[in-house]
Amino acid sequence: MDHFNYRDGVLCAEDVALNLIAQEVGTPVFVYSAATLTRHFGLFQQALEWTPDHLICFAVKANSNIAVLKLLGDLGAGMDVVSIGEYARARTAGVPGQRIVFSGVGKTREEMRLALEGGIRQFNVESEPELSALSEVAAGMDAVAPIALRVNPDVDAKTHEKIATGKSENKFGIPLAKAREVYAQAAKLPGIEVVGVDMHIGSQLTDLDPYRQAYAKMADLTRALRADGHDIRRLDMGGGLGIPYRRDNNAPPLPIEYGQVIREAVGDLGCEIEIEPGRNIAGNAGILLASVIYLKEGDGRDFLILDAAMNDLIRPAMYGAHHDIVPVREAATGAEVRPFDVVGPVCETGDTFSKGAELPALSAGDLVAFRSAGAYGAVMASEYNTRPLVPEVLVDGDRFAVIRPRPTLDDILTRESLPDWF
Ligand code: LLP
Repeated sequence: MDHFNYRDGVLCAEDVALNLIAQEVGTPVFVYSAATLTRHFGLFQQALEWTPDHLICFAVKANSNIAVLKLLGDLGAGMDVVSIGEYARARTAGVPGQRIVFSGVGKTREEMRLALEGGIRQFNVESEPELSALSEVAAGMDAVAPIALRVNPDVDAKTHEKIATGKSENKFGIPLAKAREVYAQAAKLPGIEVVGVDMHIGSQLTDLDPYRQAYAKMADLTRALRADGHDIRRLDMGGGLGIPYRRDNNAPPLPIEYGQVIREAVGDLGCEIEIEPGRNIAGNAGILLASVIYLKEGDGRDFLILDAAMNDLIRPAMYGAHHDIVPVREAATGAEVRPFDVVGPVCETGDTFSKGAELPALSAGDLVAFRSAGAYGAVMASEYNTRPLVPEVLVDGDRFAVIRPRPTLDDILTRESLPDWF
């Protein structure tokens, strides 16, 4: 459930009509609902209520706006970051280092140093060379880096191939068969303290079975590592629980069901539980608001040309992803709908959001909203075609604020400089 509903025939974010935001901020613009973010975070808290010893680390990559991070951080969320840039955002949002987990296959020594200096809960280490580098960096600073090894369980997450991460052919993690050996190395290295085990098998999972398989392997590994003498006290179960992108579709499992899967698999191990959800918290807490520029009659099809493009929301072009597109002004009951190819102004055929989307009659100036755009939307936006980086707005009840303004053309042009030999 989200807080984007029609009221008096107009789509609203909580108590704010989207046409008001369009009027004041312009389009395209991402709009987030604070109540939805809060609700979704609360669902994960409920899901892990069975163990008070847990931390929900929001995957910052899904939505890294500092206002969003602050809202979640103030609710008690930890953060899962994959770069020192994301770390800096989390800290700027007031999240203490002790609640920040550092993931990712390519952490640089400089990133390790800065995170150790600023305070960090744990590094999720993904390879032996990374482990040695971290040991050298930490020992050189007289610091101790708490680590979990990310283990690749070789499980098919049954999701889009570009966002599956837990198969052996994926670049992520240390093969399960090698894990005990690498843990043994880690235990001997200076500057390293082994605290746990980490796994993440993919994103937009709509079936709990792959989790069951992966977590069973994690439980076995934890027992084996304890028998080897390691003090495994923390399990990072990753993120990845999917969201319904289509309202008419079978909904993916709920956080509460996911929480039970965790409990059944590892609940008896007495470990602190960490999870790293991103999409499930932010996805349906945001929409992308856009305007129709032209309605173009093509050969056997009509194109709805919007002022939003693939540079603002790349998921359809990149993953063939579906986002429901709805008119901001609600169609009258029984109003005729017809198919449109919904496209953006970027000079690529791939700049197509939807083919044959069933929409009511729309004309230039009308507003539409892309649902489920709060995760992997604004964070993946670019300025391709020199289109200004799409702004972001946060709604809370009947108030709203711009949390990232639209850059002016001047802002864009003055970032660049000419070589002095020109
Ligand atoms: N933890 C790790 C280590 C991850 O790699 C990811 C996502 C997450 C947590 C969060 O997963 P989530 O709960 O959001 O599914 N850009 C793609 C999604 C890429 C996800 C990559 N890793 C998309 O738009 O679908």
